[in-house]
This record gives sequence, C-alpha cells and structure tokens, in this order.
Amino acid sequence: MFTSKKLLLLFSLTFSCSIITALAQSPNLGIVANEELIKNWNTSIGTEGEELPPGFGNATNGRSIYNLQCIACHGQGGEGLLNDKLAGGHGSLTTNQAVKTIGSYWPYATTIFDYIRRAMPYLSPKSLSDEEVYSLTAYMLYINNIISEDMIIDANTLPKIEMPNKGNFIISYPNN
Ligand code: HEC
Repeated sequence: MFTSKKLLLLFSLTFSCSIITALAQSPNLGIVANEELIKNWNTSIGTEGEELPPGFGNATNGRSIYNLQCIACHGQGGEGLLNDKLAGGHGSLTTNQAVKTIGSYWPYATTIFDYIRRAMPYLSPKSLSDEEVYSLTAYMLYINNIISEDMIIDANTLPKIEMPNKGNFIISYPNN
C-alpha cells in the first residue's frame, strides 16, 4: 500500500523527471538563426576565392585605414608592436629565427581577406566594409612586396596572387 508520503515522493520524482526530459529536449537557449544572422556569419572564403564579395580596394586606401585602425597593435607598416608583425621575415623560415608573417608564411592571398573581415580590428571584428577589407588586404600584400601600391584588388585579382611560401606547404591526404 502506498502511504500519502510515498505517493507524494513518487509524484515529485515523476514530476522532476519529466522536467529534466523537457529541458533536455528544449534547453530554451539562444535564438532561432534567421537568414540575416546566417548571412552575417557565413563569410568563409575558400582558397580559390570563389566566395569573394563585390567591391575592390588598393594599398593606398588600405594604408589610410591601417594607420587609423591597426597601427596601434601591429606597428608602422606592419613591423609589429603589441601584436603580430605582419610584414617581412621572407626567407627566415629555414633559419633558427623563423619570422612568420603574411608575406613569409601564408600560402594563400584569399585567406588574408577572410581573416581580416572576420577577426580584425581585434576589439571590433566585423566592423569593416568589404571595400575596406579589400584595401587592407592590398596593403598587407604591398608591405610584403607582393603587389604594387596601385594594384586593384578584387574578386578577380586576389585569387590569382601567388604567395611566396605557397610551394613549401605539403598537402597531406588522409590514408596516404
Ligand atoms: C587591439 C589590438 C589589435 C588591433 C587594433 C588590430 N589587431 Fe590584428 N591582431 C591582433 C592580435 C592579438 C592578433 C593575433 C590573434 C590571434 O592569434 O588569435 C592579430 C592578428 C592579425 C593578423 C594575423 C597575423 C598572422 O600572421 O597570424 C592580421 C592579418 C591582422 N591582425 C590584421 C589586422 C588589421 C588589418 C587590423 C586593422 C583593421 C588589425 N589587425 C587591428 C591585435 C590587433
């Protein structure tokens, strides 16, 4: 026979279990990702640059933006300050003092656009327009002596740029 105390215990146990099950099914966290939200985060640019947006820029404009928004952390002309050096180090990777920068290390120019657009400036990422990112990408390439100062960087020209260290990357396929 169930006493009323036992019944109460059974009831509260059943009740708590159903709450736990309900919580597991619907944690009620976050918000539904609508199209606008997905678009805002779906910004990956592959190595071939097929996803690059419209717009263009050059290193001259990039320098102006850099001097306002980037120089405090990365130094004059990308020489490094509080944070990473962004230029130079060419040929240093095979020495005991490897200096990894965009110019000396990064294999694809398209990644520069992707990285700056999603992550920089460090304290306010995703605040730059696509045109500003194109100009900053051009400036990064210019300070690494990869392009001339007036070259137009856009969805057509950026994927064609050969990065100096590209040939030193070995593609490793699983099970090979
Ligand atoms: C408040 C400091 C700060 C500012 C301002 C800033 N950055 Fe950075 N940046 C960083 C830090 C910190 C890292 C390293 C982040 C990491 O490794 O996760 C970094 C990394 C980078 C890298 C990658 C370097 C590498 O070789 O891995 C690039 C490119 C870059 N920043 C570009 C920019 C540009 C362009 C701007 C201006 C629009 C900018 N940053 C503004 C702090 C800053």
